[in-house]
Amino acid sequence: MKIHNFSAGPAILPRTVLEQASAALLDFNGSGLSLIEVSHRDKDFEGVMHEARAAVKRLLGLGDDHEVLYLQGGASLQFAMVPMNLLRPEGKAAYVNTGTWATKAIEDAQKLGKVEILASSEDKNFTYLPTGYSIPVDADYLHVTSNNTIFGTQMPHFPESPIPLVCDMSSDIFSRPVPAASMGLIYAGAQKNMGPAGTTLVVIRKDLVGQSGRKLHAMLDYGVHIKGQSMYNTPPVFAVYVSLLTLQWIEAQGGLEAMDQRNRAKASLLYHEIERNSLFRPTVTDGTGSLMNVTFVLNNEANASIFESLLKKAGISGLKGHRSVGGYRASLYNAMPIESVQVLVDVMQALENQQA
Ligand SMILES: Cc1ncc(COP(=O)(O)O)c(C=O)c1O
Repeated sequence: MKIHNFSAGPAILPRTVLEQASAALLDFNGSGLSLIEVSHRDKDFEGVMHEARAAVKRLLGLGDDHEVLYLQGGASLQFAMVPMNLLRPEGKAAYVNTGTWATKAIEDAQKLGKVEILASSEDKNFTYLPTGYSIPVDADYLHVTSNNTIFGTQMPHFPESPIPLVCDMSSDIFSRPVPAASMGLIYAGAQKNMGPAGTTLVVIRKDLVGQSGRKLHAMLDYGVHIKGQSMYNTPPVFAVYVSLLTLQWIEAQGGLEAMDQRNRAKASLLYHEIERNSLFRPTVTDGTGSLMNVTFVLNNEANASIFESLLKKAGISGLKGHRSVGGYRASLYNAMPIESVQVLVDVMQALENQQA
């Protein structure tokens, strides 16, 4: 039976990418060796790292002002590395709190210096995105989260920031065009839209490197990783390779404009059904519902067990909402075909028909 994978991450990847990755596990570039048993200093792997970094630049429309790194430690390590590298000990950082991940980023930054929280949607369990805050020009940077994976809100556009904008794009990187060239720093765990778990993308504007003036351990210093061309130490070779394949797939599909169109069509199909079907309601209240993680609940919890058995019968996997929101979360990352979203909509309608 076909399984429709709505998991929030690690998440669905294109079938062709999985096939290419499987082949490289047995024979990498015709070498007779597995991708994971050759040296990362081998010229074939150096080519992979070089091409993956170049593909990120092409997709995001970046020039020489930015560097691209594939690091480890997940997006969570960036919660610490960002302030270590960008926040001066006597300076301050500005954060917008839009969910669990932003809260964690704030907590890590607070361990290193002064943090001003410009706005928060915690008062309503992060069901909306705050607007109308003003950005202090004397802060070292402004940190935002473009897509809130757990609560299902997504920034429709990015603030015009007079200070370097730092964005956690873990769950919507490469899903739509973004003004990356004007941003200071972007980071994203790979395991949603750009590959498997195990590597983290960091894009940084070169002039911000070393900005904090702090003495840092080598592995925590962006400057060290830039100098090492993202191979200061052994990189996660498999994760980087699969990320390259995923980026090549995105380019072959038509790039970020094409991803955006497909993602909008999928999300609109599902949001429309959530609005139309009297058994369900969305959890996001201000129209900032995410194109990547669509969160919704049943109006009557008594329907949960029958809905879940219909989901199972239809081969729908990974739809359970995060425990802090409850209900359901349909993650519609780039590789999710619209046909799978239609299967979910059909199940929602089948549930409605059973009630009639
Ligand atoms: C928006 C966002 N930021 C950060 C993280 C943490 O990522 P990691 O598990 O790679 O540390 C996640 C994980 O789901 C996320 O969705």
